[in-house]
Amino acid sequence: MRTALTELVGVKHPIVQTGMGWVAGPRLVSATAEAGGLGILASATMTYTELEAAIKETRARTANPFGVNLRADAQDAPERVDLIIREQVKVASFALAPKPDMIAKLNDAGVVVIPSIGAARHAEKVAKWGAHAVIVQGGEGGGHTGGVATTLLLPSVLDAVDIPVIAAGGFFDGRGLAAALAYGAAGIAMGTRFLLTQESTVPDAVKQAYLHRDLNGTVVTTRVDGLPHRVLRTDLVDHLERSGRLSSLTRAITNAAKFRQQTGLSWRDMIKEGLAMKHGKDLTWSQVIMAANTPMLLRAGLVEGRTDAGVLASGQVAGLLDDLPTCAELIESIIEEAEEIIDRLRDVR
Ligand SMILES: Cc1cc2nc3c(=O)[nH]c(=O)nc-3n(C[C@H](O)[C@H](O)[C@H](O)COP(=O)(O)O)c2cc1C
Repeated sequence: MRTALTELVGVKHPIVQTGMGWVAGPRLVSATAEAGGLGILASATMTYTELEAAIKETRARTANPFGVNLRADAQDAPERVDLIIREQVKVASFALAPKPDMIAKLNDAGVVVIPSIGAARHAEKVAKWGAHAVIVQGGEGGGHTGGVATTLLLPSVLDAVDIPVIAAGGFFDGRGLAAALAYGAAGIAMGTRFLLTQESTVPDAVKQAYLHRDLNGTVVTTRVDGLPHRVLRTDLVDHLERSGRLSSLTRAITNAAKFRQQTGLSWRDMIKEGLAMKHGKDLTWSQVIMAANTPMLLRAGLVEGRTDAGVLASGQVAGLLDDLPTCAELIESIIEEAEEIIDRLRDVR
């Protein structure tokens, strides 16, 4: 199946495994790449040195192209961009719109730039600045997300820009890929579906917690870091939603102290990170601190397997999933089903 996406990055299938913090490491990314999709390493939750090692390990596991996701507002984003260029990583993916000079630098070095966006006007902006493609994530998607569903956001973005658009938010099977292509997208990007595969390093008990959800099992909360964040509905999240300012400030500081210990970040740097995530929003101090230590809460859930104490980012699609395929099985079945549908639709006329 050849699309503008497969041509642009040189992958076999128009399927992207997105850069999910604490989830998208070398094992998942290389399995996706070996199966013919585009795997993206999540670097927002890695130190610079960990990212360097992750790129090397991924390269040792696969000769196929892969990408790195980074936060354009991270303090060391310029160094990470240099690393991506030096290591000749094929794709730079951004959780937030990168600045024009960052895009230009990557462009000059031959790195394909694919920011994730949540509104047509953001797509227009990054397209004007030279981004090669965009991932558009609808409200049903996991992690930070907007309020507009993929079915409406996707056509609005497709109408706004001429660069390839990759559809994300709620995809999991061949019907979704065929539908996205019918809209005019160049492929699909999936987070939650790839989190629930054999090669994902998320602890088994946590995967089971996702698999047992129904379609109402997620909630969008701003209580984690002040920005709308789609996560599994857990006791912790219910508690955060109910708790007053004082209790969340205490929790924020406790978590921040643990995160600081783990990452070696100074308090000053942490506050700076938190402020950078503020995005001009009117956040309380506890929210700023929470923003800075959200990675810690996600780590407790996704790495340590603490479904009680951690935050588990998840798309609504978790409610429809009940298996843990390998990446190869997943990608093959999606392509096969999408091809069958497209063939069948040819006879409909
Ligand atoms: C556990 C988890 C962690 C995520 N972390 C990131 C991240 O670090 N950077 C990013 O750009 N998007 C992140 N996302 C969003 C995904 O990249 C993707 O856009 C989203 O999962 C697509 O929706 P879906 O879950 O319905 O497939 C995360 C999503 C999940 C489920």
